[in-house]
Amino acid sequence: MARRVPFAVLISGRGSNMAALLDAVRDPDFPAAPVLVLANRADAAGLGRAAQAGVRTRVISHKAYPDRQSFEADLHAALVDAGAELVCCAGFMRVLTEGFVDRWAGRLINIHPSLLPKYRGLHTHQRAIDAGDAEHGCTVHYVTAGVDEGPIIGQAKLTVHAEDTADTLADRVLALEHRLYPECLAKVARGLSV
Ligand code: GRF
Repeated sequence: MARRVPFAVLISGRGSNMAALLDAVRDPDFPAAPVLVLANRADAAGLGRAAQAGVRTRVISHKAYPDRQSFEADLHAALVDAGAELVCCAGFMRVLTEGFVDRWAGRLINIHPSLLPKYRGLHTHQRAIDAGDAEHGCTVHYVTAGVDEGPIIGQAKLTVHAEDTADTLADRVLALEHRLYPECLAKVARGLSV
């Protein structure tokens, strides 16, 4: 069997996408294995879920650093120390600078709740409703210096209903995210494991 690529997950909050990734790796054929869940907030709810799953957790609070570069230097060191070769952002609410992103080029991925290139940034569900979009969904993409701009790895779509609100759309898109992210992580890991 091909080796399982060691990966880390970066979170800031709930961590439901992280949980979906940790569920997926229970399949012995999944091509990646989690080595670290790292949060930039000590109160990130996902940390408990990761610990329950037996995955090492760490908190590196961005507030303890004078600038993004020094925060990212410690983030990078923690990832390297854990042996991560691939990094999944999952609701990680920090913009990463070009220096960090370049060091992880091709190995740093993110999930975003819109059909990119539509609706980079926040409030994606309301923006899709306001635009009268017939379709909406989510995207997994490589992280580059431009926020939500990197090459797309995969997308999942749904039909927007007349009665949808930002909340109902968020719930339905989140269910798609939980299927899409493990699929895309597996695809990237297979490419790195050879
Ligand atoms: C998800 O909708 C994800 O697409 C976005 O932030 C949300 C994080 O949710 N980037 P969770 O923490 O994974 O539950």
